[in-house]
Amino acid sequence: MGLIGCGTVGSGVLEILHRRGDDLARLLSRPLRVTRIVVRDPARPRHHLAGLLSTGVELSADPQRVTRAPGIDLVVEVAGGTEGPRQWMLDAFRHGRDVVTANKATLATHGAELFAAAREQGRCIFYEASVAAAIPIVEMLQNGLVANQMTRISAILNGTCNYILTRMELDGMEYPQALAEAQAKGFAEADPTLDISGGDSAHKLALLAGIVMRSHVPVEKIYTEGLGNITRDDIQFAAQFNCRIKMLALAKRNEHGAWELRVHPTLIQRDEILAQVRDEFNAIHLKGDAAGPMLAYGKGAGALPTASSVVADIVRAAKGERGLFNSHAGTLPEIIPTEKVELRHYVRMAVLDVPGVLGRITSFFGLRHISISSIHQPEAHMGHPVPIVLVTHKTQDKVVTDALRDLENAKLLLRAPTRIRIEE
Ligand code: HSE
Repeated sequence: MGLIGCGTVGSGVLEILHRRGDDLARLLSRPLRVTRIVVRDPARPRHHLAGLLSTGVELSADPQRVTRAPGIDLVVEVAGGTEGPRQWMLDAFRHGRDVVTANKATLATHGAELFAAAREQGRCIFYEASVAAAIPIVEMLQNGLVANQMTRISAILNGTCNYILTRMELDGMEYPQALAEAQAKGFAEADPTLDISGGDSAHKLALLAGIVMRSHVPVEKIYTEGLGNITRDDIQFAAQFNCRIKMLALAKRNEHGAWELRVHPTLIQRDEILAQVRDEFNAIHLKGDAAGPMLAYGKGAGALPTASSVVADIVRAAKGERGLFNSHAGTLPEIIPTEKVELRHYVRMAVLDVPGVLGRITSFFGLRHISISSIHQPEAHMGHPVPIVLVTHKTQDKVVTDALRDLENAKLLLRAPTRIRIEE
């Protein structure tokens, strides 16, 4: 086989093949060998790979040495980026090669084209490592739960966001320091804005929803909001409402077969299962019409957890597994716009503590038919800034969005309000 990319995940793959190669060879009755690796600069010293590369491995900067040159039976793409991997995968299919990839961005962006090309050429895309690193959630949905009409996915799919939120809550760490740690530990994407903008979670949700809906789910159909505005204050106020903030990816099917697809910071009750998930761990809470509720939990980022799933896919490919060719060829069901969804909302505002300000704020919401279920204002000092935090009853998303825009324009607040959606 040939590897394209030899960074965090690629090195993890080589390490696992080195450690577990004998056992896997026994299982398969043949060895798994990486014979070519494509890297940007083959001349660069790679001391960390010492002992992991078999003799005679060819390092090259030319992806075609893996996608089309003779002598390669499987293309393992762990390079990152989107346009390059798209081209390499298409080239691999044209040259009769299956592809193993950890590249959720490419599959979520170009999946319609790539799955169709694979289908036409009779090739397979194995992508277990693209979602939730070590957790075999793709296998679970494609095979173990195939008999079900899935009705719900509620998931923590980004290890970096979960790590940041955990460190901010438990260690009182500031956001930039927590992000720097997540990067140093190899959890974050090369461009970490993909993690904190919610884009990475949306890519992964698109892939999971695609399996469940038997169709390509364009990532643009997923409402996506990042961690950007969340502060330690929000984490502390959430605790006062007996909640915790998690970056959730949600796919929910209603009784008419239409789906909500959303990724955003979310308040959930502290006793919910997903509220217990810490650090870089991911968890996927599923519901199927026959299986009922189910939880998958494990490491969602990092070299070895991701490589664990890449190697599982290499073994699947070596066993000759083919997958279901029509798994992404169906029609996309109706997607419900998030602005129509009815939820409870947490709103944090900063105001000057002057007589009547609380009344003006509550009337503002009342006039827009937004009912407040609880409100909190810490002890303040006259004339000084103070936060006001409220939680609404269920209200249509757009009504809250419009109210917050009007509130900002009305100059009642010292800065833009923060809204966090609440999931029951
Ligand atoms: N950057 C990703 C995360 C890595 O933090 O979850 C795994 O896809």
